[in-house]
Amino acid sequence: MAGMKDIRNIVILTGAGVSAESGIDTFRTAGGLWERYDPEEVATAQAFARDPGKLLRFYDMRRGSLDDKQPNAAHKALGKLDAEWQGEFLIVTQNVDNLHELGGAQRVLHMHGEHNSALCTSCESRTLWRGSLADRPPCPSCGDRALRPDVVLFGEMPYHMDRIHAALRGADLFVSIGTSGAVYPAAGFVRDARELGAKTLELNLDPSDGSHWFGDARHGPATEVVPHWVEEMLGE
Ligand code: OAD
Repeated sequence: MAGMKDIRNIVILTGAGVSAESGIDTFRTAGGLWERYDPEEVATAQAFARDPGKLLRFYDMRRGSLDDKQPNAAHKALGKLDAEWQGEFLIVTQNVDNLHELGGAQRVLHMHGEHNSALCTSCESRTLWRGSLADRPPCPSCGDRALRPDVVLFGEMPYHMDRIHAALRGADLFVSIGTSGAVYPAAGFVRDARELGAKTLELNLDPSDGSHWFGDARHGPATEVVPHWVEEMLGE
């Protein structure tokens, strides 16, 4: 990538495509989750109010499917970049899996929440959670049977937006990996980053909806394009 020498602060946005080769479902690609399930039925704030059991079972199914999943070469390369990069560095992930962390990354924000966390709608405490929520277990803090997945539903505000915008303001390089660019506000980060003067790079299997906003793009499977790009960044 041209001008890499000038880059000190990096913000990376990731989406389902970075975990696809670990066997985790994407949403909008052929055979993806939103082809098999209607997000209006299982992933909106209204759906949760209407039929909480249905939504809890959907997230139980997705949480359960994580058990045997391992980070792939893309997660591991990003973990290495995090460990070795001297400047500011932040992975903002839309993914609710924990594969960035298992791949060694530490500077990670989950803007759409996490499967392995439960949020109590009664006392608002968060608890590390790996089991079912559909059978309405009591909250370990307050005892109310009011736990829900600690994930952002459509119609709810994504998490950590202040920290994400602060990181974008300081970014020299914004990289988007494995996301279709269909869901805001994440889909707008590339424009924010550009307006704030950062270089922009897309790494995706194919051009995303917002591909034309990026200054540079490389298309291919994340397990190939991401390690290759990380090697370049680390001068290897
Ligand atoms: P999508 O399923 O919309 O897009 C995944 C992107 O990854 C597509 O552009 C694919 O081409 C690309 N892709 C697939 N396999 C890949 C691979 N092996 N290597 C590289 N790229 C690959 O998923 P997201 O963009 O993450 O939100 O979806 C964004 C949000 O929509 C999700 O966080 C979720 C969903 O509804 C909520 O549930 C709130």
